[in-house]
Amino acid sequence: MFEIIRPQGIYFDNAATSLMPKEVLDVLQKYYTCKRSNIGRGMHKLGINATFKVEEVREKLMNYFNADDFYVFFVFNSTFASNISALSYRGKMNSIAFSVLEHNSAYLPWFRVAKQNNANIHYLELDAHYDVIYEGYYDVAVISHASNVIGKVNHVKRIADLMVVDGAQIVGHREINLNQSHIDVFYFSAHKCLGPYGAGALFIRKDKFEMFESAYLGGGSVKYVDRERFVLKQPPHSWESGTPAIAEIIAMGKALDLINENIDYIKTQEKQLIKRMLEVMEELGLEHYGEKDKQLPIFAFNVPGIKYLKVAELLNQHNIYVRAGHHCAHLLMDYLGIEGCVRASLHFYNTLDEINAFNEVLKKVKA
Ligand code: ALA
Repeated sequence: MFEIIRPQGIYFDNAATSLMPKEVLDVLQKYYTCKRSNIGRGMHKLGINATFKVEEVREKLMNYFNADDFYVFFVFNSTFASNISALSYRGKMNSIAFSVLEHNSAYLPWFRVAKQNNANIHYLELDAHYDVIYEGYYDVAVISHASNVIGKVNHVKRIADLMVVDGAQIVGHREINLNQSHIDVFYFSAHKCLGPYGAGALFIRKDKFEMFESAYLGGGSVKYVDRERFVLKQPPHSWESGTPAIAEIIAMGKALDLINENIDYIKTQEKQLIKRMLEVMEELGLEHYGEKDKQLPIFAFNVPGIKYLKVAELLNQHNIYVRAGHHCAHLLMDYLGIEGCVRASLHFYNTLDEINAFNEVLKKVKA
C-alpha cells in the first residue's frame, strides 16, 4: 500500500481536492529536479524522455478507461475541459438537457452556448432515489457521473446525440469503461484522484469528433502556417496548443497506476466508511440529502437549527475540515429547496476513528 501525505487534523474535504500519495510527489520532484524539459520540440535526451513519458500517460488513460474509441486530450482540469468542449462545439444545438445535479463547471459553459443558440433547455429531475429521470431526446445532454454534493452515481443513458459527462467526482472511486458506455465526452481532474493540480484529461468519442473545431489554438497544434491559412495536426495534438503541465501529467499517470492497482481495496474501504458515517448521521438526527444506499463517501447535511457555515466553523475549531455552502451546485440547492449545506467528503484513506471524532464534535455542537 502507498503512503498518503496527510495534513494535521481530519480532512473531510476530498471532493474539493483529494490528498496525494508520497509516490506521486516523488514523481513531481524527480521531474523538476533532474528531468525538466519541454515536450514535442527539443530533439535532445531530456525532451525526448519528457515526450515519451507524456505519451505513455495517454496510453494509460486509454487503457484504464477502455477508451480506444476516443481521442484523449490533456487538459488543466475539469472546468477547462468543460469550457473547451462547449466553446469548440459546432454541432446542432436546438435542444439541450442538464441534470439538476450539475456542478456549475459542467453547467455554465454549455448553458451559455445553449442560450447563444436559442436552444430549448430542459432540466432532468431526480426520482425518490436521487436517480436522474432520463426522458426526451436532445441534441446535447450534460450529466454528472457522480454528484459533488450528494455522492450519487448516475448510470448514464443515451438521451442525446452528444452525451457530455462530468467525471470529476467519480474517477478514483470507480472504474469507467468508456467504450462500453453511452458517453461521448468525458473529463476529470487529477487533483481529485490522488494527483497534482493543473492536469486532467478530456475524452471525445472519435465518431463524434466532427461536431467540434478546437477553440484553442497556438504552438504545437499546427503542422502548417502561412499568411493565408493554417493546417492543424491530427487529434489529439490539434487540441493541445501550448506547453502543458508536463510534470503533473506524468505524476497523474502515477496516481492512476496506484488507483488501478488498489481499486478493490479503495471500494471496500469506502463501503465501510459509508456504513459508519450513515449510522452516525442517523444517530445525530442530521438532515441528510441523498440516498441511504450511498455509493460514494460524500455526505451532504444540515444540523437542524444551526446554520451550515456555523457548523463548518465549529468543526474547523476542532480541526475537522469540511466544506459548507452551495458547493457550486445552485441547480441542486434549488431542487433540494435549501440555500446550502455542510458537505463531509471522505476518501478511502479516512478512518473509522476520524468518523468517531466527527461524531463526538457534532454531539457537542447539537447539545
Ligand atoms: N468542485 C469542487 C467541490 O465540489 C471544488 O468542492
